[in-house]
Amino acid sequence: MRVVPADAPGITAAAKILRDGGLVAFPTETVYGLGADATQGTAVARIFEAKGRPSFNPLIAHIADPAAASDFAIPADQFEALTRAFWPGPLTLVMRRKPGSNISDLVSAGGATIALRCPDSTAALDLLCAVGRPLAAPSANRSGSVSPTSAEHVAASLGDRVDLILDAGPCRVGLESTVLDLTQAAPVILRPGVVTREQIAAIVGAVAAASDDPSAPKSPGQQLSHYAPSLPVRINAFDARAGEALLGFGAGEATLNLSEGADLREAAANLFAMLRRLDDPRHFKAIAVRPIPEDGVGVAINDRLRRAAYRKTF
Ligand code: TXA
Ligand code: MG
Repeated sequence: MRVVPADAPGITAAAKILRDGGLVAFPTETVYGLGADATQGTAVARIFEAKGRPSFNPLIAHIADPAAASDFAIPADQFEALTRAFWPGPLTLVMRRKPGSNISDLVSAGGATIALRCPDSTAALDLLCAVGRPLAAPSANRSGSVSPTSAEHVAASLGDRVDLILDAGPCRVGLESTVLDLTQAAPVILRPGVVTREQIAAIVGAVAAASDDPSAPKSPGQQLSHYAPSLPVRINAFDARAGEALLGFGAGEATLNLSEGADLREAAANLFAMLRRLDDPRHFKAIAVRPIPEDGVGVAINDRLRRAAYRKTF
């Protein structure tokens, strides 16, 4: 596995590997993605193999130009307004696949829908333009572990399973994109992210969250245990118990602090990197996390923390 800067020569080398059917990990504003040419089924199959990802879990297709969305999907009514407000950016839109589109069926895990996102990162957009094709890209980690927010995280998780890693430093947002399903009568948030329910509702009116209703559709990737470190995680903790690391938020002593100034965006950007740093069985037996307010970006942070803590709380 090679790690190169996401500069012009790096992008050119990465684009060649992708056109030849290889795998390249690349930075986006949210987390690093594990990219393959979405139009080559064998390349997309390599993503599932490298991640150890179940084949029923569909992938996001990344595009550089919002206008290209209609080549791959049947744009939903709310598409124009949402993309004007949030693209490029951390919002993924699930729509019906356009019949006859050249995106591999594997990207949709054989289903009738396709998730599209235009990332807000110069490196990602340059790469997409250089390849000239949509890129299927899940987070660049082994299935079930914490998403990578740096090239080092990708190398530690995937090693030689990836042909090249483009390095542009730490990701600005740090949490995966908001996934919004536009195939229902009203939009449904399948995965919360830094584009919040309030922001989406201001554009399209009523928005449901899959978590409101247990029978509502969910992303296949939203299992209860996900994004999990190897140590147990205890959420809504005020103090560390013996042997625990304390992940702080706001004022107060802690092993590491997501944001001393209680800034939710700063906390989101730090979350995965700090969970990784504390996930060290030589020093700690568990990770306790101070409460995070359940509003705005806090909804997405708590969503990831609940999954990290699931069945590992003691
Ligand atoms: O920020 C992100 O979204 C990052 C960067 C690389 O773009 N990507 C990412 O991909 O987080 P992944 O595969 O780790 O998560 C995508 C989520 C999964 O929960 C998956 O089940 C869901 O989106 N998803 C993808 N296609 C879908 C579809 N057609 N219908 C419903 N959910 C879908
Ligand atoms: Mg993922």
